[in-house]
Amino acid sequence: MPTITIHPFNTAIPCAIGESVLHAVHAARHPLASSCGADGVCDKCRILILDGMDHVAPPSKIERRVMRERPFSAHERMACQTFIDGDVTITTTYW
Ligand code: FES
Repeated sequence: MPTITIHPFNTAIPCAIGESVLHAVHAARHPLASSCGADGVCDKCRILILDGMDHVAPPSKIERRVMRERPFSAHERMACQTFIDGDVTITTTYW
């Protein structure tokens, strides 16, 4: 099972294949902003992938639409639309 490491806390959170990063982080009771119920419209769940980008699935159609409307850096993703198949390290601007 892949692991999400939360920087800077070094907290390790398990994430099942097919589970979103947002769902896994919330299941571990770690705070991660969200105001649209993971519908992919609020952009509050934006994360920065610090390591493991090669384990992150390409952006979904929903995420690509938001990325066209708002600037994202190469390693920024929306946690509710991000699915992983290996270990990653993530952070946000407010952790
Ligand atoms: S929770 Fe709203 S866009 Fe991800």
